[in-house]
Amino acid sequence: MAPLPAPAPASLLCLFFLCLLAAPCPGARAARFACNATAPRASTCQALISYAPPNGTATPTLAAVRALFQLRSHRALLAANGLPLSTPPTAPAPAPLRVRLPCLCSGGAGATFQRPTYRVRAGDTLDAVARGVFAGLVTYQDIAAANNVSDPNRVAVGQQLWIPVPCSCDPVAGQPVVHFTYVVPTGGSVAGIAQEFSTTEETILAVNKMADSKALVAGQVLDVPLRACGSAISSTAIDRNLLVPNGSYVLTANNCVMCGCSSSTWQLDCQPTQGLSSSFCPAAKCGDMFLGNTSSTSSCESTTCSYAGYTNTTSFAILANVTTSNVCNAGMSPVAQPVHSSAFRLERAWLRWTELVFSLHVVLVCLGYLRQD
Ligand SMILES: *[C@@H]1O[C@H](CO)[C@@H](O)[C@H](O)[C@H]1NC(C)=O
Ligand SMILES: *[C@@H]1O[C@H](CO)[C@@H](O)[C@H](O)[C@H]1NC(C)=O
Ligand SMILES: *[C@@H]1O[C@H](CO)[C@@H](O)[C@H](O)[C@H]1NC(C)=O
Ligand SMILES: *[C@@H]1O[C@H](CO)[C@@H](O)[C@H](O)[C@H]1NC(C)=O
Ligand SMILES: *[C@@H]1O[C@H](CO)[C@@H](O)[C@H](O)[C@H]1NC(C)=O
Ligand SMILES: *[C@@H]1O[C@H](CO)[C@@H](O)[C@H](O)[C@H]1NC(C)=O
Ligand SMILES: *[C@@H]1O[C@H](CO)[C@@H](O)[C@H](O)[C@H]1NC(C)=O
Repeated sequence: MAPLPAPAPASLLCLFFLCLLAAPCPGARAARFACNATAPRASTCQALISYAPPNGTATPTLAAVRALFQLRSHRALLAANGLPLSTPPTAPAPAPLRVRLPCLCSGGAGATFQRPTYRVRAGDTLDAVARGVFAGLVTYQDIAAANNVSDPNRVAVGQQLWIPVPCSCDPVAGQPVVHFTYVVPTGGSVAGIAQEFSTTEETILAVNKMADSKALVAGQVLDVPLRACGSAISSTAIDRNLLVPNGSYVLTANNCVMCGCSSSTWQLDCQPTQGLSSSFCPAAKCGDMFLGNTSSTSSCESTTCSYAGYTNTTSFAILANVTTSNVCNAGMSPVAQPVHSSAFRLERAWLRWTELVFSLHVVLVCLGYLRQD
């Protein structure tokens, strides 16, 4: 027995390991979306967040949600939700509402950049802010860590907190996507969520590093990659990273152009806006055609003067380019986003297996030690 360590500390160590294995960490699991895009422009993007007011709170107005998330523009909120531009700020917010915020990747994880912030009121706890105000989009642990709060039960009234909502800018299977931050509702399933957002179960599981669909729990903050419409936007344009998912539109080129995305074509549909921009809008043309004009060249083919981005190097210019599309193929089911998840699943299975073997070893060794005591 001489070479063996003293039994007392060893059994303590074993008890510690056993406890670790037996009791998973209590409390909500902090959501962190993988976000390892590092190229200067790719490391920030527009994130989309699903906000459903917490149960028991009155339906807020659009203006109230805009204030909660410090959104700079009412129009941008309407655009993200595909609502008509005439919708007034006093209109009740549809639930859930889509909120577009800048996302920043840093250290392999993404969080909304600097916004939203929240000023602590009398009687607030971090958990009440996380779940009661921000509808579970963050955990109190996330808020505490992001704001260097050592005791989550003691936050000073008036203290300004940054709410780091998880987000991502990473392409999925080489395809650009918009990552949608979604709180799983009661009764939600991976299959149901995949169907609702036109993606696949495999994609959701892979992106969220989940072993299988059964791992999904209500209240979990899920990363749902949304397919974005294809476009002719030039890689040198200022708005080259413009990604618009189905059911929404954006105002770009200094509000001179409005682009919508519909799952019937999966191609960005851009038109000049009339009278929306506060400044001069240069004409956007492809030869004789104006931006947004379409003409059919044959029974199956049509050409469109498509939006190609805007530049402002010498002067503000809106680019446009002729694109051809096969109208006979339009309306066919969209191509599913391929994700090579089998390798990923294998890896997970292997990890779980090694974990199990390791656990068994610890238990056996520990039982041996404990019996010696
Ligand atoms: C967090 O708080 C500790 C102790 O109060 C302090 O030393 C540290 O500099 C703080 N970090 C940040 C990022 O504010
Ligand atoms: C992010 O990093 C991981 C591990 O380094 C890698 O497997 C993955 O492909 C990366 N994702 C992207 C979108 O670059
Ligand atoms: C909110 O209320 C709805 C309907 O009353 C219920 O189905 C849902 O489970 C509730 N959600 C939470 C998080 O309590
Ligand atoms: C227009 O399309 C052509 C061919 O696809 C491409 O070479 C050109 O760069 C495009 N122009 C702009 C402004 O995007
Ligand atoms: C696209 O959005 C519309 C309206 O928001 C919705 O009815 C439709 O089901 C969506 N289609 C896909 C494929 O996501
Ligand atoms: C072409 O676009 C211009 C400017 O948007 C519009 O006034 C005109 O009606 C369009 N013509 C056709 C045939 O769509
Ligand atoms: C273009 O650049 C000029 C000078 O830098 C700036 O004043 C103007 O606001 C820019 N216009 C747009 C649409 O970005």
